[in-house]
Amino acid sequence: MDSRSRPECAASTKPKTLVDSLTSALVKREAKSARRRLTVLPRTAVDFSSNDFLSLSSSRAYRDRFLAHLNNTPESFPFASGGSRLLDGNSTYAEDLEHFVAGFHEAPTALLFNSGFDANVGVLSSIPQPGDLILYDELIHASAHEGMRLSRAGARKMFAHSSPTALRDVLAAEIDKDSEIQTGTRNVFIIVESLYSMDGDVAPIKEFIQVVDELLPRQNGYFIVDEAHATGVFGPQGAGVVQHLGVQDRIFIRVHTFGKALASHGAVVLCGPETRDYLINYARSLIYTTALGFPFLASIRTAYELLSSGETESLRNRVQQLIGHLHKRLGSLQISQSVMFEVDHFPTSPIFSLRTSQPRQLASACQKDGYIVRAIMPPTIPEGSERVRVCLHAGNTEEQIDGLVQSIQSWLERHSVEKGSKL
Ligand SMILES: Cc1ncc(COP(=O)(O)O)c(C=O)c1O
Repeated sequence: MDSRSRPECAASTKPKTLVDSLTSALVKREAKSARRRLTVLPRTAVDFSSNDFLSLSSSRAYRDRFLAHLNNTPESFPFASGGSRLLDGNSTYAEDLEHFVAGFHEAPTALLFNSGFDANVGVLSSIPQPGDLILYDELIHASAHEGMRLSRAGARKMFAHSSPTALRDVLAAEIDKDSEIQTGTRNVFIIVESLYSMDGDVAPIKEFIQVVDELLPRQNGYFIVDEAHATGVFGPQGAGVVQHLGVQDRIFIRVHTFGKALASHGAVVLCGPETRDYLINYARSLIYTTALGFPFLASIRTAYELLSSGETESLRNRVQQLIGHLHKRLGSLQISQSVMFEVDHFPTSPIFSLRTSQPRQLASACQKDGYIVRAIMPPTIPEGSERVRVCLHAGNTEEQIDGLVQSIQSWLERHSVEKGSKL
């Protein structure tokens, strides 16, 4: 061997540094057009992207009431929570808020978490007992996956999105294999969202309940429903899909988040008193974190007061009007055969999916025209289901919607010419 080759050899086997590994992971994502970046879009652009469905975050009624809550406290009232809920972070204000929210949602009790992510992680990591079975919809949120990953459940099985037949097949197969499920000694958890964040469709919760009632007559099936996107938008006074269906007594745990239509931050877990007590003892995402401070609690209270007083009803009606308008306008798009483009929309949902193989290009064309929409790419959604997500808000106007649809139409026309010219 030529002695000169030694240093080269040593150089080529030099272990990669951590930063090299991180960079190479980013490069791989870039190559797949899947690299995420933080972006700030101009404030003058029209919002067709955020989850602020009722436009509460910029509403005068919300702002005035929130500021009044802040101002109406004694000077000595601490704004910071001061610690974990179990130590110095609890307050009468937080407990009163939980009673108020539980009452609004017709639930036995409520327990606040710092975010929907924390709530799902806390619930799913701690509630399923060793050996239990978890069945989950293939499109549930990343936070539920995170919770399940930490759980002591014996098995986790996925079923096809919003398909009662698929749930039936998976559950029946598991029952056949496991006598403990048959005898009712093993618990089965069914995890779904009520309104899916990326596809905007509402889950067939009643049909799921029928399947579980039929296959698990010993009542060892427990539903956990994440109402993050439905909160404020669906159900009586915005109380969610579960209450709209009147099945609140059949759902073991509901998770409502405040960071979307409620213009705030945090989440609540609705459950029975024993479950609440258990979470206080075992949910690490609740125990080992500083609790929400007073300004957050006040903003959550503000949102719930507006919902329960009926003040948000006109906003919900307005969103529905706009949904009808956008649905009609998207239906009138002229789409050439040569372009892959499809509108996916569940009636009454404020979330629209524009399926295309070039979501980044479409989103960037709309952004250039002043409309904020986002391309949604894997791994946030399954490979092959890339789309541009459009969300409607009470504060949008028909003119803005017409402008957005015009922008999409122009892109489709340019795109079909470009595609045609390549052939
Ligand atoms: C279905 C669902 N659950 C939970 C969360 C997490 O909620 P938060 O943003 O409050 O952490 C989200 C947020 O995007 C969500 O879409």
